[in-house]
Amino acid sequence: MTDDRPTDATVVDVRRRLGEAVAPVVVGAGPVLDALVVALAVGGHVLLEGVPGVAKTLVAEATARALGARFRRAQFTPDMLPSDLTGTMTLRDGDLTFRPGPVFTNVLLADEINRTPPKTQAALLEAMGEGQVTVDGSPRRLADPFLVVATQNPIEYEGTYPLPEAELDRFLMKVEVGYPTEADEAALLRLARRGLAPAALGEVRPIVAPDAGGETVGAVAALVAALRAEVDQTTVSDEVGAYLLAVIRRTRELPSVEVGASPRAGVHLLAAAKGTARLAGRGFVTPDDIVEVAPAVLRHRLVLRAEAELERFRPDDAVAAAIAAVSVPR
Ligand SMILES: Nc1ncnc2c1ncn2[C@@H]1O[C@H](COP(=O)(O)OP(=O)(O)OP(=O)(O)O)[C@@H](O)[C@H]1O
Ligand SMILES: [Mg+2]
Repeated sequence: MTDDRPTDATVVDVRRRLGEAVAPVVVGAGPVLDALVVALAVGGHVLLEGVPGVAKTLVAEATARALGARFRRAQFTPDMLPSDLTGTMTLRDGDLTFRPGPVFTNVLLADEINRTPPKTQAALLEAMGEGQVTVDGSPRRLADPFLVVATQNPIEYEGTYPLPEAELDRFLMKVEVGYPTEADEAALLRLARRGLAPAALGEVRPIVAPDAGGETVGAVAALVAALRAEVDQTTVSDEVGAYLLAVIRRTRELPSVEVGASPRAGVHLLAAAKGTARLAGRGFVTPDDIVEVAPAVLRHRLVLRAEAELERFRPDDAVAAAIAAVSVPR
């Protein structure tokens, strides 16, 4: 371990330095980076939803490199087993030894999470919820930080297994990754490439300093601990807390909504709002922080009534309706 613990390990600085580090590789990654930094700072996980080819994988990989964090990618397939993710006990020289699966990392890209059956999804959810996995009956701790970036395609093909509501509720945020703006798309076409891949991906340098052994894992853990402490110290006035509570409870009363936001969703919204305040360089939460982050925190947790879906009402419309129905504290 080195003692050159970053002095600028604040949410604002880490976000800025990550943005600079990935800029040569991915264009327009701002909203995803915001979500990843907030998730790291509160110990949450992120679901990215978007059609193929909008850089979901690229931004996750580039961000992990920029953090200096260990990164693994698991492609979720219909025949994937829980042990493909968690690891297996193998016999070596007459001894049973544990061979860790890809879940033993800092940043796990769970690609196309809705292509694997529920049993394997459930193994990932134990990891996300408890920070551990059970292999052969014994629990094993995961790394800290442990950030799952899951991706899914919005179009439900045949042979997909949509995540059940209870499992979606474990994701701090769902970010919809759309097509780039015309300017961003022009810029990404101008990026230097080696073949099809961005030339600079291998050159994305960690924002943390390596220790004497060239490892950055310890520094990443220290950095993330600093972010967590900063977010935990963010204050929420009684009025703003009451506003958040009213928005959450309102989602349960909307005529368009069958199942509203859970108490867990409220906890997640409060944490994400604190992280959002810190991203803006503030030490206290405003109603605007809640309004800004509420769609990403709530959209995947609301179950709409069939009639509302038929009328093309969307979860984001329900979130907007809940916010519109609650008066903002002055
Ligand atoms: N915003 C962007 N900035 C830079 N390159 C981009 C961007 N969007 C797409 N690309 C290019 O498109 C390629 C595909 O991106 P990527 O594999 O990350 O997409 P994806 O969203 O993960 O797709 P899939 O759903 O098929 O896995 C990238 O390797 C990159 O070359
Ligand atoms: Mg991908």
